[in-house]
Amino acid sequence: MNSKEIRGKFLNFFEERGHKIVPSSLLIPDDPSVLLTTAGMQQFKPYYIGKADPLRDFKSRNAASVQKCFRTSDIDSVGDETHLTFFEMLGNFSFGGPANLDGSGASYFKKEAIHWAYEFIVDVLGIARERITVSVFGGDPSPLKEREASGSFTNHSFKGEGQVSRDAESFNIWHKEIGLPEDKIKEHGREDNWWGPTGNEGPCGPTTEIYVDDVEIWNLVFNEYYGKRLEIGGDGLELEKISSPGVDTGMGLERLAVMMQGVPNVFETDLFYPLIFKLREAVPKLPHETQSVLHKKVLKILADHLRASVFLVADGLRPSNKEAGYILRRLLRRILVYGIKYDIHADLFSIAVDFVKENYGEWYPEVKKTKEILEILFGEKDKFEKALALGVKEIEKYDRITAKDAFYIYETFGLPFELLQELVPDKVKNLNKADFDAEFQKHQEISRAGQEKKFGGHGLILDTGELKASTPEEVEKVTRLHTATHLLQAALRRVLGSEVKQMGSDITAERTRFDFSFSRKLTDEEIKKVEDLVNEAIQKDLPVTYQELPIEEAKKTGALYFFKEKYPDKVKVYSIGGNSSVSSEPAFSREFCGGPHVANTFKIGKFKISKQEAVGAGVRRIRGVVD
Ligand code: ALA
Repeated sequence: MNSKEIRGKFLNFFEERGHKIVPSSLLIPDDPSVLLTTAGMQQFKPYYIGKADPLRDFKSRNAASVQKCFRTSDIDSVGDETHLTFFEMLGNFSFGGPANLDGSGASYFKKEAIHWAYEFIVDVLGIARERITVSVFGGDPSPLKEREASGSFTNHSFKGEGQVSRDAESFNIWHKEIGLPEDKIKEHGREDNWWGPTGNEGPCGPTTEIYVDDVEIWNLVFNEYYGKRLEIGGDGLELEKISSPGVDTGMGLERLAVMMQGVPNVFETDLFYPLIFKLREAVPKLPHETQSVLHKKVLKILADHLRASVFLVADGLRPSNKEAGYILRRLLRRILVYGIKYDIHADLFSIAVDFVKENYGEWYPEVKKTKEILEILFGEKDKFEKALALGVKEIEKYDRITAKDAFYIYETFGLPFELLQELVPDKVKNLNKADFDAEFQKHQEISRAGQEKKFGGHGLILDTGELKASTPEEVEKVTRLHTATHLLQAALRRVLGSEVKQMGSDITAERTRFDFSFSRKLTDEEIKKVEDLVNEAIQKDLPVTYQELPIEEAKKTGALYFFKEKYPDKVKVYSIGGNSSVSSEPAFSREFCGGPHVANTFKIGKFKISKQEAVGAGVRRIRGVVD
């Protein structure tokens, strides 16, 4: 089934069920708290909260669309099989409230939304029922249970309506009405089965997600609440019930195309293939056969960034140094840098503009303004080349380039770190990407691009829930970060006291992210102390060992454990420093854990805290990196 048929079938299906087909909105949204459009519901925000009247505008309380979306959260993951910046999302929406006087146009909620989604997948797309699993919102953990388990009270991050209970209604629709067996209905918390709000406030609520062969394809959101962030960019929410709740769904077109076309990744679907084909000719093969993996990755990154840039420019965005314009500049400069680095002489911009016009012009007339779009793209190329010449002069002034210098050079002349490595390897040999990234993080303004729910997470070779890695190199990196996270928790408790308790953690090859209970922002001095303690422990090259014990015995050792986790009857107690036998000498850190860890702390390398933020009342989040 080609993507044109998928679009048509989806829109027809919902048109037949009383939905108004609404064109995609621009990638640059009206909502000032969001940089770019990340979801189909964004253009409909006023309808959900009674600020606009769907009956007046659509003659129905229900709409469906294919929406252009852009998500910055995965920019650095592009190049693998699944991640994209720009994508299209199929969605059906219901804004709540009663029908027209003649009975038409009534809104709907969980029952219809779930039944229709299922019908579309099974009857229209022809997906076998056995391939389908779903997830529903399992409810917030009760604070009382947390208190019992942790032995202390921790503020939880939800105010107003506070605790949201399990979505039994959705569970029952899936189980009793549709007949999915219980073991095919998973329940998760806010990490996985909760949406929004986009920006600082807006509709939000529990979700139910549909998976085919364990790949998430459709997200159904039930907007039961109006949520306000307790802190800009944080996860903590103040919730108020919406009087007539609505529905917001989203299904990625590219991912659906992968499934329907039986190809291994998005780049081989009809939505990308003509571009990849051209790029394959345009990008010279790298000299060594072993580099062909890199060649493929370069093609994917170029294909994603080129397609996205054309759409962004067509929607009126211009490259600049701030906000959304900066995101576009970053994409374009990466393309231009690759042009230099991989010796590409073909005119990539013209290739991309022609591709988008031919393949997308039918749905998005704005991409047909090819001359205007090319003018902007070439304008940026000229600017970049001029800046590059100045930048090359600037770097002659340095004997050695520090992270701060590198960031300055990047910001002022647009020379990214990887180009410095190409041009002046000796001057940056003591500098690594993590230092540069940490510096970059401090300055970047692009992280607020709305609530960006992650798609992806597939093809992982290590996924413990806490640790995620997709290559052996990444496994090595997350293992080092994992041991560093144990040291971090121990150091935080030494500096801030035992109020510090783990509230969650998430480790990728880029960074560790550790959430803990603590009532205020850490001072610079405290951050430094924590970093120093961790680095001292690393320098001492402490052994990392474990002992396996029955859970009750393990709890008596005083080792830390994460109260939200369900542990098996026998657990491993990991010690860093001291001795593997938990009853003997004290250790720097002792925690229940499943591993993996490095054998000795020196292997971790240098640890650095790259960011601290609040994720709600009484919960802090620290991100850390290692070289
Ligand atoms: N707004 C929801 C999403 O984008 C449907 O996943």
